[in-house]
Amino acid sequence: MLTAAWAAPGVKRFRVAAPRVAEHWRAGQFVIVRAGEGAERIPLTIAEGDATEGWIGLIVQSVGASTTEINSLEVGDTFSDVVGPLGTPSEVEAVGSVVVVGGGVGVAIAYPTAVAHVAAGNDVTAIIGGRTADHVILEQELAAACSRVVVCTDDGSAGRPGFVTDALSDRLEEGEVDLVVAIGPIAMMRAVTGVTRSRQIPTIVSLNPIMVDGTGMCGGCRVLVGGETKFACVDGPEFDAHAVDFDVLDARNRSYRDFERRACAVAE
Ligand SMILES: Cc1cc2nc3c(=O)[nH]c(=O)nc-3n(C[C@H](O)[C@H](O)[C@H](O)COP(=O)(O)OP(=O)(O)OC[C@H]3O[C@@H](n4cnc5c(N)ncnc54)[C@H](O)[C@@H]3O)c2cc1C
Ligand code: FES
Repeated sequence: MLTAAWAAPGVKRFRVAAPRVAEHWRAGQFVIVRAGEGAERIPLTIAEGDATEGWIGLIVQSVGASTTEINSLEVGDTFSDVVGPLGTPSEVEAVGSVVVVGGGVGVAIAYPTAVAHVAAGNDVTAIIGGRTADHVILEQELAAACSRVVVCTDDGSAGRPGFVTDALSDRLEEGEVDLVVAIGPIAMMRAVTGVTRSRQIPTIVSLNPIMVDGTGMCGGCRVLVGGETKFACVDGPEFDAHAVDFDVLDARNRSYRDFERRACAVAE
């Protein structure tokens, strides 16, 4: 690790020396890392990178045993491996007005896509949410890149009280929006999809099923999109939100919960 610093409670921001990944990555792609030999393979989005200096930026939320182990790493520590860049890059075109909606650590995943849309000449509004003011990440970085940033907190301790979907509905009332990109918890992406479906606004979501190899070999990350089975690691992770079967995604992600609880208990 070149740098390691807490960005929010339970969320750590790293710069990792990975020159070859830094040279080739594009917005929307991810790496799979292992904290040490024999550790679980963990997919993490490349939030930023610098090809000249040879590093990539990762932002990691502790949700279970492996992400807690990763977030115990400090400057000078190393991952036993970093594989990537993986996944299909975000499709970024000059479409006009784009709203990027990020919830929780989903803001880290949304950030490079927002920057890419700005670079493509789009007018980008970022709507980002967190439980409290302390849980909101990357507000300054997004403010530096986007035309506008709307912060929402569940408890009203910063920005607008309430959910990102309320802020999105207001933005859609204000004027034309050509594309919405939503990244965050499944419930949030499902809610955003409901808001944009009735208005027929093209919407992209980044799916986060359990992944194992990350290269299309194991089938662990299969999702149902437009009635067809897709592998999120190679066909995605971004998909047309209006075609995604969120029930199937939710059920598959829940199916490992007992196993994960046992892993946490062992780690403690
Ligand atoms: C393509 C992709 C990119 C991702 N990018 C990031 C990122 O940039 N930063 C980040 O903090 N996290 C990211 N994630 C999520 C991260 O991989 C998971 O949080 C991690 O695998 C959980 O491992 P664990 O052992 O710590 O938790 P576990 O003990 O395995 O699980 C703990 C809790 O997290 C949930 N969970 C498990 N796996 C996932 C998953 N793949 N996605 C979401 N929730 C999960 C479980 O349902 C459970 O409730 C990404 C996931 C994918 C598929
Ligand atoms: S993670 Fe194995 S096929 Fe996608």
